[in-house]
Formats: sequence, structure tokens, C-alpha cells
Amino acid sequence: MTPTTFNPGKGAGSTVGIAILGYGTVGSQVLRLMVENADEFAHRTGGPLEVRGVAVSNKEKHVGTLADELGLLTDDARSLIKRDDVDLVVEVIGGIDYPRELVLSALRSGKSVVTANKALVAAHSAELAEAADQAGVDLYFEAAVAAAIPVVGPLRRSLAGDQVQSVAGIVNGTTNFILDAMDSTGASYDDMLAEATRLGYAEADPTADVEGYDAASKAAILASLAFHTRVTADDVHCEGITNITAHDIQAAKAAGYTIKLLAICDRLKDEAGHESIAARVHPTLVPRNHPLANVHKSFNAIFVEAEAAGRLMFYGNGAGGNPTASAVLGDIVGAGRNKVFGGRAPGESTYANLPIANFGDVPTRFHIDMTVVDIIGVLAELTKIFAAHGISLRTVRQEEGTEKNARLLVMTHEAKESDLAATVETLKDAPSVIKVNSVIRMVGE
Ligand code: HSE
Repeated sequence: MTPTTFNPGKGAGSTVGIAILGYGTVGSQVLRLMVENADEFAHRTGGPLEVRGVAVSNKEKHVGTLADELGLLTDDARSLIKRDDVDLVVEVIGGIDYPRELVLSALRSGKSVVTANKALVAAHSAELAEAADQAGVDLYFEAAVAAAIPVVGPLRRSLAGDQVQSVAGIVNGTTNFILDAMDSTGASYDDMLAEATRLGYAEADPTADVEGYDAASKAAILASLAFHTRVTADDVHCEGITNITAHDIQAAKAAGYTIKLLAICDRLKDEAGHESIAARVHPTLVPRNHPLANVHKSFNAIFVEAEAAGRLMFYGNGAGGNPTASAVLGDIVGAGRNKVFGGRAPGESTYANLPIANFGDVPTRFHIDMTVVDIIGVLAELTKIFAAHGISLRTVRQEEGTEKNARLLVMTHEAKESDLAATVETLKDAPSVIKVNSVIRMVGE
């Protein structure tokens, strides 16, 4: 093409060759949308996008699919990546070890990578970023956090001029579905997990979702981006929702709260002005008038507070083939444009290198549910225990109990995790405490 007719803005730039690794729910939607909207994507990218191959572990399983009809299926991902006509590798396999090998191989071969793999990015961001930097290529992962919701790009680019103070999000649809259903029906965790499984929200093995591991990977990615500091999933304190009872939900409701599994990333400052960061995932009481309390069913939402921007909320579909494909395709266009026009997307930014706070030092508010002996003086005894650990009480409610027992529900002012943990240990041994039923953290005013 001569310089006079070359017009990459009209999609007439060089072709971007693409390898798709994985052909499950996401990979198949990515291919379908790329084929159906090829002209649009050529214009948006500056040159045509051409899929060179789709790597799967077993070609037989995909007979009759679009990838098969187009003659794209291969079971040799390693060779596909290395082809000279592949510029960009899209990883939608899932898991960690095998995709890690493939993604590193792609980056080291000078191919940009788009991945939807939160576990991979959260566990191995350092070596992936280093490989991308050394080869001068892009590593995009918008789909790794909350699928279709643009939050990685906004944190990486749009908020690069601001100081993010906190990120708090519902980043797991399965657990949000379960907790929301418990809240609206009053049913138990087990029953609503069964319902989530029946409706296809929960996987056959729901461990990664219900134990909070999936959300912890996303929290690590969000904290890294927000605070310009490398945070891995191992740095994230993680508790799941399996112990949340119908009574916890009902007690929260009675006090004007709902319970959500939140990923919370905070910038902290100690009395001497030293900054640190904390990332945690745990069930949390959220006031019913808080925007995150109104995120229902399997929707996700991420609430960001930044110094200059103030409060921002990102809301939408955080899972599923099409929503995830939307984010992957956005990244493909971004990485493709850089191949056509030159240049790179912003890479990993870890210059701030803030220390990860000791979890015991993280300040939080707590809701403590106890069954106590219903005798005169019990409240005085218990409030003394809180006071002895320097914890100030905000509210104390008593539920109707049996003739001899009462259920006490205590909300604290902000206290350190370590002080609260010590308080709970003392409470468990107190003569008037029959049982500490639950301790759940809280957010909001
Ligand atoms: N299993 C996740 C969820 C989606 O339930 O939100 C993929 O991260």
C-alpha cells in the first residue's frame, strides 16, 4: 500500500494475527463476535484482525463448532503461539500452571497477550509484567476483574492522575447471588447454594467462589492497580461466606444492613503518617442505603474513592461468556491498535511499593452476635471486656431469647483487628457467654 492510500484509521493498516487459547464459554464467544463484526473491528483497530488458530486440548470435543468450520482448531498451543503470523495471543483457558507457561512463552516471543485469567495475573503479575517489558509488548487483562465492567482500564489509565484511597467491590457473582437470595427469602446458605447451582450460577465445585478465593485474586489485581504496588493473592486476607447463617442475615436486616462478600482495598496511614495498604475479602454488613447494598442477583459493582474524583461506582455483569468476551475484545482492539500504529499500553506500575499492612493493625467496625446467660449484670460484665481491649461500643441490641438465655448483638466503633480478635477470645471464656455465634465486619457510616 502506498503512503497516499494508507489509512489505518479506516482499517486499512496491517493485519493483526491472533491465536486464541481455549474454546470454552468465553473463547467461543470471542471468536463468534470477531467473525460477525470483522469490519467493525478492522476500523476500530486500524487493521484487520485475523484469527490464525484456536488451541484446545481435545479437538474432537469441538467438532461442528465455528472454530471447526473455519478450520482453526489445533491441539498444539505451543506451536500456534510461535507462528510468525501470530502477533497477539488471547488466553481464555483458566487454571494457572499451563496458561502461565503459554503466556510467558507468548510474551517472550514478542507477542502481546490478552488474558481473562485472574488467578494467573494475581499470582504471577511480576514475571508476566517483566516478560512483557523485556519484549516491549502489551499485557492486557480487563476481563480478569468483573468481566464486562471496565475497571482495570479506568484504574490503570483514567485514574492515573489521581490518588485512589479505597476500592470496595462485589466482585463475585455467585456469592452475591447466594447472599442476595438469603436476604430476600430468609433461606439458609445451603439451600441458596443449591439454588445457585440449579440455576447455573454456582459451579459443580463452588469452593473458589464461596471461600472467597476468586474475589481475593480480583482484590489483589485491584489493589495493585489502585496503589501502584505489587499485591498478590497471598497478600489478601480472605474469608468466604460458608458460615453465614439465616440468622446473621435476619439480624443484619433488622439493624438496617445487608451482608455482602466485599473485596476491600484500603490506603492506610498510621499516626506517624506512614502509608501502607490492606486488601481483604470477607462477608461484610453494608447499610441498606449504600450503593453496594443495591447490587442484586449475580451483578458485580466496584466502588472507588479517589482524592480528586471523589466517589465512583462501576456496575454490571461480572461473569458469563458474552460479558467476558466484551472485555476480552476491548483488549484485543487495544493491543491490536498498538501493533498497527506502534506504541504500548501503560504497563505495570509498582513505583509506590507501599508496605502491606499487618492484618491485625487494619481498622474495621464489627458486628458481634452472642448468646449469653440472661441474668442481671451480664451487660456490665461484657461491656467491661470490650473496654479492657480498648473497643468502644456503638450499639447493643438484645433479641428475645429463651427464659434463661438472651441473644446480644453488638456493633463496635472502629477497632483494630488484633484488638477485636483478643476481645472475642476473652468473650468466649466469659462465664456469662454461652456462645459467640458470629463476628462480621461492617462498612459505611
Ligand atoms: N465465578 C465468578 C463469579 C466469575 O461467580 O463471579 C469468574 O470470576
